[in-house]
Amino acid sequence: MTLIYYFSHHTANACLFPVCALHHVAVTTVEGIGNTKSRLHPAQERIAKSHGSQCGFCTPGIVMSMYTLLRNKPEPKMEDIEDAFQGNLCRCTGYRPILEGYRTFAKAMMSSSLFNSSEFQPLDPTQEPIFPPELMTQSNKQQKQLCFRGERVMWIQPTTLKELVALKSQYPNAKLVVGNTEVGIEMRLKNMLYPVIIAPAWISEMNAVQHTETGITFGAACTLSSVEEVLRKVVAELPPYKAEVFQAVLEQLRWFAGPQIRNVAALGGNIMTASPISDLNPVLMASGIIHLPLISPCSTEGKRTITMDEKFFTGYRKTIVKPEEILLSVEIPYSKKGEYFSAFKQASRREDDIAIVTCGMRVLFQDGTNRVEEIKLSYGGMAPTTVLALKTCKELTGRDWNEKLLQDACRLLAGEMDLSPSAPGGMVDFRRTLTLSFFFKFYLTVLQKLSKNHNGTVSNNLCEPVPSNYVSATELFHKDPISCVLLQEVPRGQAVEDMVGRPLMHVSAAKQACGEAVYCDDIPHYENELYLTLVTSTKAHAKILSVDASEAQSVPGFVCFVSAKDVPGSNITGIANDETVFAEDVVTCVGHIIGAVLADTQEHSRRAAKVVKIKYEELKPIVTIQEAIEKQSFLKSIKRINKGDVKKGFEESDHILEGEMYLGGQEHFYLETHCTLAVPKGEDGEMELFVSTQNLMKTQVLRVLLCRNCIVHFGLCLINVSFNRTGRPVRCMLDRDEDMLISGGRHPFLGRYKVGFMKNGKVKSLEVSYYGNGGNSVDLSYGVMDRALLHLDNSYNIPNVSSVGIVCKTNLPSNTAFRGFGGPQGMMIAECWMSDLARKCGLPPEEVRKLNLYHEGDLTHFNQKLEGFTLRRCWDECLSSSSYHARKKLIEEFNKQNRWKKRGMCIIPTKFGISFTVPFLNQAGALVHVYTDGSVLLTHGGTEMGQGLHTKMIQVASRSLGIPTSNIYISETSTNTVPNTSPTAASVSADINGMAIHNACQTILKRLEPIKQSNPKGSWEDWVSCLIPDLGYDFEKNEGKPFCYFSYGVACSEVEIDCLTGDHKNIRTDIVMDVGTSLNPAIDIGQIEGAFVQGLGLFTMEELRYSPEGNLYTRGPGMYKIPAFGDIPTEFYVSLLRDCPNSKAVYSSKAVGEPPLFLSASVFYAIKDAIYSARKDSGLTEPFRLDSPATPERIRNACVDIFTKMCPSAEPGTFKPWSVRV
Ligand SMILES: Cc1cc2nc3c(=O)[nH]c(=O)nc-3n(C[C@H](O)[C@H](O)[C@H](O)COP(=O)(O)OP(=O)(O)OC[C@H]3O[C@@H](n4cnc5c(N)ncnc54)[C@H](O)[C@@H]3O)c2cc1C
Ligand code: FES
Repeated sequence: MTLIYYFSHHTANACLFPVCALHHVAVTTVEGIGNTKSRLHPAQERIAKSHGSQCGFCTPGIVMSMYTLLRNKPEPKMEDIEDAFQGNLCRCTGYRPILEGYRTFAKAMMSSSLFNSSEFQPLDPTQEPIFPPELMTQSNKQQKQLCFRGERVMWIQPTTLKELVALKSQYPNAKLVVGNTEVGIEMRLKNMLYPVIIAPAWISEMNAVQHTETGITFGAACTLSSVEEVLRKVVAELPPYKAEVFQAVLEQLRWFAGPQIRNVAALGGNIMTASPISDLNPVLMASGIIHLPLISPCSTEGKRTITMDEKFFTGYRKTIVKPEEILLSVEIPYSKKGEYFSAFKQASRREDDIAIVTCGMRVLFQDGTNRVEEIKLSYGGMAPTTVLALKTCKELTGRDWNEKLLQDACRLLAGEMDLSPSAPGGMVDFRRTLTLSFFFKFYLTVLQKLSKNHNGTVSNNLCEPVPSNYVSATELFHKDPISCVLLQEVPRGQAVEDMVGRPLMHVSAAKQACGEAVYCDDIPHYENELYLTLVTSTKAHAKILSVDASEAQSVPGFVCFVSAKDVPGSNITGIANDETVFAEDVVTCVGHIIGAVLADTQEHSRRAAKVVKIKYEELKPIVTIQEAIEKQSFLKSIKRINKGDVKKGFEESDHILEGEMYLGGQEHFYLETHCTLAVPKGEDGEMELFVSTQNLMKTQVLRVLLCRNCIVHFGLCLINVSFNRTGRPVRCMLDRDEDMLISGGRHPFLGRYKVGFMKNGKVKSLEVSYYGNGGNSVDLSYGVMDRALLHLDNSYNIPNVSSVGIVCKTNLPSNTAFRGFGGPQGMMIAECWMSDLARKCGLPPEEVRKLNLYHEGDLTHFNQKLEGFTLRRCWDECLSSSSYHARKKLIEEFNKQNRWKKRGMCIIPTKFGISFTVPFLNQAGALVHVYTDGSVLLTHGGTEMGQGLHTKMIQVASRSLGIPTSNIYISETSTNTVPNTSPTAASVSADINGMAIHNACQTILKRLEPIKQSNPKGSWEDWVSCLIPDLGYDFEKNEGKPFCYFSYGVACSEVEIDCLTGDHKNIRTDIVMDVGTSLNPAIDIGQIEGAFVQGLGLFTMEELRYSPEGNLYTRGPGMYKIPAFGDIPTEFYVSLLRDCPNSKAVYSSKAVGEPPLFLSASVFYAIKDAIYSARKDSGLTEPFRLDSPATPERIRNACVDIFTKMCPSAEPGTFKPWSVRV
């Protein structure tokens, strides 16, 4: 007998893959393919050397996606590489460097000056680990049923169908699990418990693929990847008319989750989950008569076959299949001649996202005619189940496929696919419009096919051809592989050994790529360690009547429950002393921490925390900015900046424009969630804290708390309280949903403006009110609002300004610092009125923007003089490098030729003030040790969180001391080496820590060489003033200097929108950024791209959704969408402005962390530009309101047309919406 082994490599999500399901499977993790001690695997080496790793938290996952692809396809195409990353996310890099590094495997290398690809080891597939022989031997043997028993769950893996049937009859309510991508979520996040699990994944009948006369039958446990593989092969061979349904299934699978899910999730699992937003169920339901053979262990017949028709789904996640029945297989049918099929899906993000609305549509024509014989339209996302539009289909049967049918179909669908304005999931108008838009696309697609005979030539026999400007509406999404060129300043005439300005690799990149980098929760467990789980409020505003932890005590491993009464001193905390460590009598937001459970393991502490019972008396919450304005619920400090005479400015203006813009908040979504570990040191109550923090000073203050109760970081307080109670090491790492629930993020903003301007677009006068949603405490809201007001001009000279900034107090978790710290909100509202006034004047927006740009020496509205103003240079370079004017003409032409796809382009400047606006924070410390062997150990006060700070600091020390970087080591930041650290924030960390290092090195050099090398007459005060610049701004008097200097940049972006679905693609972005003389161009470019892509999320994608009661719905990656690989511009060009040294920072460099984020506003306004073009085709030319983010919902709703008009909005106030804009 010859044994044929079939080995293939698949990526899978570790968090969802049950360990029990790994029997006979070899698992390869990132540690198994290479390491820093012996050899990095090429997939590890290339991501590290191409600067594709910043914080490195995502890096092992990305490496393994690439590794898997290489194992299956050693010479991949660029498209394969992009597809392989559909299920990976990164919050730091902006994806470009990862793709560029891995492009070298595709032999599609473009020259990069940031790494040297000739240094890369070649990929040698013969050197890969082999499949373990012992597993191979075992798989040859007779398989046995497996059973694993856990504390609460039993897992049984049968090997034959007979065993499966016997087990199901023994345990009729046992849960079948194949990929666990649904059940795993239910158990982890929805508190479900299935005591008996049966895993049929290894049963041959459940995995069989049979080609029958009518279609292909797939065993119910076939994974989606295997279905995809089979269909792809078949489609290539079949005549197209037979493959209509297969093509539609493939199109749905293209956007179904990521490969990690598709590799394990089963076809049967998707059907049986019965999710109303399943991607495959509408396709299967519409594709004809789908028979589902079921095995019924408890019935006398043992088998029955049901049909997937309108009766199949009986309610939300329910089907007519009985709990004890097993789905055996599914047949996907061939299509017939005269039959046409399409599937469509619209999600918040294209890649790896569940649908907002999805559908399958089938029509069969009477032989040789355009008369409908059968039609089936099935929708997901329009009801608690997948639904068929039965009434519409009945009416359309027997009708000719023409304009009249289209009109009637839309009218009927608008009536039949109705939704209550309060429907769960919200986006009601958008969802309703999508049902019509999808039908319209289907109508056109079929029309196009009908109007072509089998040779593909046009025949007018059956119907009119599709108008040429409508054709692009039928095209499926297509994106070319991403290409990028980086133009960077190469330092001229610099000594080879001088590393400042060179693209040095991130010092931790190799460790990160090998999985060796130690994150907080990687620290090995201590003996006796306890795990802490938070108990948080489920109400936004309520009195706490009672807290009962008695049931928690019966959970195994429970140690104690801590709450306010366990706090040894004061329970008050927060920057403004307005927060509590634990809520006492009242809770003021959902997620407010009430107590915490300590238990021996994470699992036990979570279980115990879930059964702590809290009784509340609910109070009316204030959730939105609007409600706060109505109730005047404001935090007390209200800031204003006034300049000139606003009234006179308005009188002198030709036009006045008034408006409003709302900007949603943003979740940090750092990949490493909050984590703290407290370890007792044994003596005097001393403890060591390991904290994933950006602000070390808080941990230092915590130590003080042990004797004096003062302001502390509340998360740390919890640990401290717990530690006090138990004296044992305590660990707490928040799950993503907890982290998103309890921590605040970027402040949502409402801007109200009145702007006066001349006919030529010159701005004369501006009156603005900014409202920020601060949440339930002050935290950093005042600072954020200050920065928003200081950036209300963006880059424009406005002679007369009257502005006010108000922070709303609401029942949401306190919002806080986020990259840009209010600056992006301030500038975004400026760009809103700027773009609208250009429209009002009928002038090109870029001309009006340029007309209003500052000049060198101008005073800002806060009276700071602009020196070294390089923005106009950035502007001119960006206009020219992006070929702005030539492309604008092409876009105009494209828009004339396409009714349902539109392109838009926009160029946006940014001017970002650099400094902490609280002056004393602009300081830093460094400790530099020189050892007798010549090595140098460096410690400074900044936290390395992926932004390359440590790498830059090594470069600074290297130049300061004149020694190679290889002699310099960094010791992890800690407050016992550098005390009183400022937060690693405000973009200044390299400036201030770099300067501290520079100073320390100078001191050492001075000691080494008695003759002073520089500034020999300088006093101590001179050195100090170097560290703490002469900063400070007085809002009352509008005088002083809030910023040390400004960073400038300009971006030009082009997008294409699908007017029917609201989808958009980022075609091209050009950025020119002034970073002074770059310390490390690879890191600076990485920061620019990372910030830009994070901004892309802020302005086009990331949407926090709250219930009217203040409950956050978007608590994880399932609902909250950050940009993925496929969202970055197809062409992405970044260049650093040359010859612009900055005298105000170390080695003439400039801060880069935050300033580029706002440049992504160019994408938002390019979208708005495209929408203008769509509206123009509907006869609308006036400025319109587009709030941020520009999600598919907002884009579609703004593209007003016949379809949107058929789905009018319900009257506000007449219903309770599912979600509110906070
Ligand atoms: C990150 C992520 C992204 C996702 N994206 C999408 C998406 O884009 N589109 C989409 O439609 N879905 C999506 N899903 C949902 C999910 O992946 C699918 O529904 C998947 O097909 C479920 O298959 P499974 O094998 O993992 O199911 P499991 O979790 O193993 O089982 C799911 C359910 O089906 C039942 N079941 C399984 N097999 C049988 C059988 N033979 N007979 C009877 N009952 C059975 C189980 O008992 C269980 O109730 C996503 C899920 C995740 C976690
Ligand atoms: S490097 Fe990707 S998340 Fe930080």
